[in-house]
Amino acid sequence: MTTVVDTGLEDVVVAETDISLVDGAAGRLLYRGYEIGDLVRGRDGGTFEQVVELLLDGEWPADASLPPSHLTAGVVQALRAIPAESAPLDALRTAISAWGAGARLPWPPTPSQVRELLALAPAAVGAFARLRAGQEPVAEIPEKLGAAGRLLYAISGEEPDPGATRGLEAYFISAAEHGFNASTFTCRVIISTRSDLASAVCGAIGALKGPLHGGAPTGVEGQLAEIGTLENAEPWIRAALARGERIMGFGHRVYRTGDPRAAALREVAQELAGDSDWMRLAVGVEEVALRLLKEHKPDRQLPTNVDYYAAAVLQGVGLDPDLYPAAFAVARISGWGAHALEQAEKGRLIRPSATYVGPERRDLA
Ligand code: COA
Repeated sequence: MTTVVDTGLEDVVVAETDISLVDGAAGRLLYRGYEIGDLVRGRDGGTFEQVVELLLDGEWPADASLPPSHLTAGVVQALRAIPAESAPLDALRTAISAWGAGARLPWPPTPSQVRELLALAPAAVGAFARLRAGQEPVAEIPEKLGAAGRLLYAISGEEPDPGATRGLEAYFISAAEHGFNASTFTCRVIISTRSDLASAVCGAIGALKGPLHGGAPTGVEGQLAEIGTLENAEPWIRAALARGERIMGFGHRVYRTGDPRAAALREVAQELAGDSDWMRLAVGVEEVALRLLKEHKPDRQLPTNVDYYAAAVLQGVGLDPDLYPAAFAVARISGWGAHALEQAEKGRLIRPSATYVGPERRDLA
């Protein structure tokens, strides 16, 4: 039998899943059969928490909410112990690690463990954002708020603006789940060893931290800040491409024709930011980038990806750019959780092979 080495695993199918359909060729994404665009635009007023239950359970619930967002003393202590200049994703990973050590979660993972983590995560990110600014974590987060509202409240300590909450919630829905991406696969590998959910989510956050996965919205924000004006877009992008750099927010491993999340988030960003200078720059730079990328790689489709307009929404919501990856992780805990449940139920230990190409046997002497 000939062995095919597939280093990026694109053509390797390791499981059957009924959580989401990522149809790259058609530019479609379905969560349990529902179109992502409908969910993000909130056509029926659906919330992120309903999407969470849909992902965990398979059916659209009439209503959904999270348990209280309570930070244990161990979590707050861990957050105080890390340097203020740590990446917020590292802070979230540390908080979940400290929480998991105290919770000693049993295997297999359960939906209520996922909900607990989803309640913890926004509070932990907000607490870190406050601690690094020399403020104390908020004492209590109103339970009536969803995960998006809780994140905003945990950062500011004030009742969040409904428009900003809605914008962040739309982003959370768009970021909740995306098939067998690198972080989800990492989560499933860890669960497949019968390790606990907190460990799996910590590992998944590690995978998400890479700039090719979860770091892109921050990259987009920095890129637009550097470009600065629409006139500068063409020379800036040409120079970046000539240096062999990648333009953040474009191209996708799976969506070759278009990313359905980008289209829906663009609408949300436009609602939120209206005719702001930043939004006008984002729309203008997108046009120039698409044209120049086509010229640069005529044989390759490099469409706008979700992170381009995610950056616009997150900027409109008023989040610090370095919190974007942590916001992504908070949302994605739902998808990781759904996959953890599925892996525990149907999967087996994931253990691929490699073709050895090192030296033949040799002697030490
Ligand atoms: N800007 C410039 N060139 C790009 C590019 C981009 N955004 N995305 C891909 N390319 C080029 C690569 O440089 C490569 O060129 P080469 O064949 O001359 O080396 C070619 O297209 C294929 O790239 P490859 O990395 O094999 O494609 P991929 O399918 O693995 O890439 C991404 C997917 C997302 C990693 C890639 O498009 C990228 O790095 N985009 C920018 C980061 C980003 O927005 N990430 C968020 C994803 S949601």
